[in-house]
Order: sequence, then structure tokens, then C-alpha cells
Amino acid sequence: MFTNGQDTAGDYLNHYTMPSYNMIKYEREMGNGITNPLLMKTTDGYYVVKVIGNEHGSKILINEMVCFKLAKLFDIPIPDASLIRIDSDTLSLNPDLQKLGVEPGLHFGSKLVSRGQTSIQAPLLNLVKNKEDIPSIILFDQIIYNNDRVMNPGNLIIDIKEKKLLAIDHSHTFKLGALWNEIEFKKIHEEDLCLVRDFHGLNYKLLLKYVNGYNPFNKILQKIQQISQEDIKSCFDQIPIEWELKKCEMDALNHFIWYRIENINRFLDLLKEQCHDWKGGDYFEF
Ligand SMILES: Nc1ncnc2c1ncn2[C@@H]1O[C@H](COP(=O)(O)OP(=O)(O)O)[C@@H](O)[C@H]1O
Ligand SMILES: [Mg+2]
Repeated sequence: MFTNGQDTAGDYLNHYTMPSYNMIKYEREMGNGITNPLLMKTTDGYYVVKVIGNEHGSKILINEMVCFKLAKLFDIPIPDASLIRIDSDTLSLNPDLQKLGVEPGLHFGSKLVSRGQTSIQAPLLNLVKNKEDIPSIILFDQIIYNNDRVMNPGNLIIDIKEKKLLAIDHSHTFKLGALWNEIEFKKIHEEDLCLVRDFHGLNYKLLLKYVNGYNPFNKILQKIQQISQEDIKSCFDQIPIEWELKKCEMDALNHFIWYRIENINRFLDLLKEQCHDWKGGDYFEF
């Protein structure tokens, strides 16, 4: 069980209730990455915020929120996240934010890891205390169809103070990032299940060294075994109205995620072929 959720609803798995905080001060653009998140001081310290009004649309915020809540269900290490409120009065005092197209309302904030290293190198990775989470992050990426962590040097972060590897940036998940919809999901559904693209690329090459022994995926599989469709549905709770998620889109994404969880053994078969230090062991019965 994780400890920082505010609420427990399921019998076994925590349904995370995301707090909301007000922006106090806009600091700067983070300056790297695709979505260009913004660093803000809030009533709960500093957050890296993805805003409504960004050029990719609000799907990237929906993806972040749903993946954050899934990460909490699966016990994937991830920085705390909150909804960050920017009201019209605050916005009118910040011409820089207006220029960036930021709209008033609730935005997605990832709590700033103040001493974080995103470029993952072998010696530093070897120092992290949560190496047992590495296979979990890899299987999590298959569930959320995240092609964006294999090669991208900025979507994992090592908290230097805590010596902990964390997953960040779930904007470009569900294969299509900001471009998914019901029709596209139907097309993906007709394709054979496969692993994320360039499986042996940059970051994964380093991570795969830690997929070893007999049951490397045991930790996340224990969680998956407990999960119900209701748990997945709970990941859509609290999505702000201004993110404009339609009911039919919510149902389509819910179905997409559940289908991939139901087919977890297929992913394990595919992983078995690619993870050469995995010695075997049992999968669980779904
Ligand atoms: N919680 C965080 N703490 C510290 N740095 C972060 C955090 N979230 C993001 N960043 C930094 O901002 C960069 C861009 O954020 P990211 O979520 O990857 O957005 P993008 O979609 O633009 O790639 C990351 O590569 C990382 O350097
Ligand atoms: Mg990124």
C-alpha cells in the first residue's frame, strides 16, 4: 500500500484523491521536451505544470492524470501530482502566461524534484535504492503504450537526494499521445499486441539490465492481480470539466487500458523474448 494517498476506496488498492493548490507565482518555462511545461510556485511549493491552452490540447493533461492514477494503483514510483488552479485575476496579472495561451482553471502539476537528474547513466542508475521498480516501469509502459520513454532522455528522473528513480511525463502515452480518439483506438485494437517501439533503445538498454532473476515482474503483477475494472474507472475521477473529456472518449480509453491489462500474459510472453536475463518463473493466472 502506498502511503501518500488521501483516500482509500477499494478493498486492496488505493484510489488516489488528487489535491488542488493555487498558483502563487509563475517562474519560467522548463525549456525542454515537447509540451514545454511551466515551473510555478504554488501554495504547496514548486510544481512543473502542464496547462490548458497549450498547443497540443487538453488530452495531454488527461493522459497525465490517468497515468498518474494508474501509477498509484500499480505502485510505480512517480513524483506527487496535484491540480494547480490559476484564476482569471491571477492570470490577468501575468502577461507572460497570457502570451503562452494559458487559460484560467485547473492544470496538471507534477511536484518539482528539486535535485533531479533526467539523463540516466549506468553508474548513477546503479546507485538508486528502488531497482526493484525498474521492471514495473517497463511493464507499466506496455500497459499505457508509452513509446516515449525508450529513447527520450527526459522521461525518467533520478531524485538525487532520495536516490530514487521516478517515472515522469505521461503526455504522449496510449500510442498516439494527444491524438487518440474512439476511432483510432478501434484501429489499434485490431492490431496485434506488441511491445513499445525501439525496445532496446537508449534508456531501456540500461533499464533491461535490472530485469533479471526468476520473477522480475512479481511486484507489479501482484498489484495487477488485485485490480478491477472499477479501479481503472476511478482513474477518471476528478478530471476537470475544462479539460473537456467526452463520456464516449472516457469509455474508449477505459476500455483500451482494461484490454491491455486483461492481455498482460501476452506482454509477458513478448517481454520474455526480449529480456535475456530473465530466467523464467511463473506468470500469474488472470
Ligand atoms: N516533477 C518534475 N521534477 C523535476 N523536473 C521535471 C519534473 N517534471 C518534468 N521535469 C523536467 O521538465 C522536462 C519536461 O517535462 P516533461 O514532463 O518531460 O514534458 P514534455 O512533454 O515537454 O517532454 C523533463 O524532461 C524534466 O527535465
Ligand atoms: Mg518529456
